[in-house]
Amino acid sequence: MSAPIIARVEGGAFHAMANDLGELLADVVNAGASVGFLRPLSAAAASAWWRSIDDGVRAGHIIVLVARVDGRLAGTAQLRLAAMPNQAHRADVAKVLVRPSMRRRQLGGTLMSAIESEARQRARTLLVLDTESGSDAEKFYVALGWTRSGVIPRYAQDTDGTMRATTIFYKELTR
Ligand SMILES: CC(C)(COP(=O)(O)OP(=O)(O)OC[C@H]1O[C@@H](n2cnc3c(N)ncnc32)[C@H](O)[C@@H]1OP(=O)(O)O)[C@@H](O)C(=O)NCCC(=O)NCCS
Repeated sequence: MSAPIIARVEGGAFHAMANDLGELLADVVNAGASVGFLRPLSAAAASAWWRSIDDGVRAGHIIVLVARVDGRLAGTAQLRLAAMPNQAHRADVAKVLVRPSMRRRQLGGTLMSAIESEARQRARTLLVLDTESGSDAEKFYVALGWTRSGVIPRYAQDTDGTMRATTIFYKELTR
C-alpha cells in the first residue's frame, strides 16, 4: 500500500465528494460500525447525510479530512468546533471512518494526527468524542492516548437496533 494522502475538503470540493463519502459511510455502517445509522444504509441515504452538513463545512465550523490511498477514498475524520464563546478552546471529533478493507494499516492513526494538527492550528486544545463501548474504535482511541471520562448506558442503538452503552473520551493537546 502506498502512503496515504491526507487532505482537507472544503466548499465546492466537499459538495462534489458527497457521493464518494456516502459510499464510504455506507460501507463502514454496513460492516457494523455504530456511527449514527442503522443498517442497511444505502449509499444514497449516506450521501444525503454528508450534504446535510455542507453549510457547516462551508462556514468552517466543521473541518473534514479525507485519506486517499492510490487515488481511492480510504478514510475520513472530522473536527467540529465548539460554538459557544466560553468553549473556544474545545472541539468534538466525529465520523472517524476507515474503509473496512483498509484497517490496521495506521490510516486511522494518521487521520487522527492530522485532526490534532487542525485543532492545534485553531487553538482547540481540548478534544471530546464518544464511541460505542467495547467497540474496535474504543480500543483505537485508548491506543492513541485518549482518556475515558465515563460510560453512558443505553446511549444509542447499534447498527442492528440493540441499545448499547457509549464511552466518552477526551484528549488535551499541548500547543
Ligand atoms: C476505529 C478505526 C477508525 C481505526 O482505524 P484503523 O485505520 O484500522 O486504525 P489504525 O490502523 O491506525 O490503528 C491504530 C492502533 O489502534 C488500535 N486498534 C485499531 N483497531 C483495533 C482493533 N480492531 N482492535 C484492537 N486495537 C485496535 C491498535 O493499537 C492500532 O495499532 P496496531 O495496528 O499497530 O496494533 C476503524 O476501525 C473504523 O473505521 N471503525 C469503524 C468506524 C468507527 O467506529 N469509528 C469511530 C467512531 S467514533
